[in-house]
Amino acid sequence: MSGRKPIRKAVFPVAGLGTRFLPATKAIPKEMLPIIDRPLIQYAVDEAREAGIEQMIFVTGRGKTALIDHFDVAFELEVTLRERAKDMAALEPTRIQPGNLATVRQQVPLGLGHAIWCARGIVGDEPFAILLPDELMIANADGGPGCMKQMVEAYDEVGGNLISVLAVPREEVSSYGVITPGTSRGALTEVRGLVEKPKVEEAPSNLIVSGRYILQPEVMRTLEGQEKGAGGEIQLTDAMARMIGAQPFHAVTFAGKRYDCGSKAGFVEATLAVALEREDLRDEVRAIAQRLLGLTT
Ligand code: G1P
Repeated sequence: MSGRKPIRKAVFPVAGLGTRFLPATKAIPKEMLPIIDRPLIQYAVDEAREAGIEQMIFVTGRGKTALIDHFDVAFELEVTLRERAKDMAALEPTRIQPGNLATVRQQVPLGLGHAIWCARGIVGDEPFAILLPDELMIANADGGPGCMKQMVEAYDEVGGNLISVLAVPREEVSSYGVITPGTSRGALTEVRGLVEKPKVEEAPSNLIVSGRYILQPEVMRTLEGQEKGAGGEIQLTDAMARMIGAQPFHAVTFAGKRYDCGSKAGFVEATLAVALEREDLRDEVRAIAQRLLGLTT
């Protein structure tokens, strides 16, 4: 164990309107869209839990209460399942200790940096994690750690600020935060610079920020007087960029798979990939996929 403050809190920015998935997201939050039988938010909360994080902080907005209900006790459902002697195991992951789910409303959609800043009172003066539920991070089937767990392990070693990164084809960098990499050692790369949604020709690399962060509380003060950046939004990336040099800053390359569930094709890919990894579905889904692709009759 290092002498560092442990990462006990995770912030989940979930206030977005999910316009890319309309009409599915007209009445339900996009984070409730399921990959098979678990909503996206469940995967993110499970990943945080696996990393030893206890307190979940949702930055929400109007129309997002289903996210909170999902992690509440569903009294009628539990009574009915019990009466019918049905297995309650499916509800197990939705249990959060009383007091360990806090919510705060973003009120106005001013950007990711603003969403994180809205959680400042609950985060307080300790390092914390951020998980963007759109980015689905699946650990390798060999039982390796999830992305946040891998990051917490790296944090115990180097401290400071950490982000997860991955390489994408160069023409895709303009949709993401991009790093200027320094020296690398194993999965750790020093971060020398950060820029949000650069033009392809101006991007410092093809290594993008992939939605997992461990940040020092000073980022909240940096966000305080933050001006608007890319897309007219208050960007977390800009605040992080200002912290480089003052505190250690590293990128972690996740040893696992990442699916961009903010896009429709990415969502379908994630569904298929998770199904093909699950023992209860693998064979059936493989046969279906082969038939659909005309590989078998
Ligand atoms: C956000 C971050 C960006 C990051 C991306 C990952 O962008 O601002 O740095 O690369 O998430 O998905 P958004 O998807 O909100 O535009």
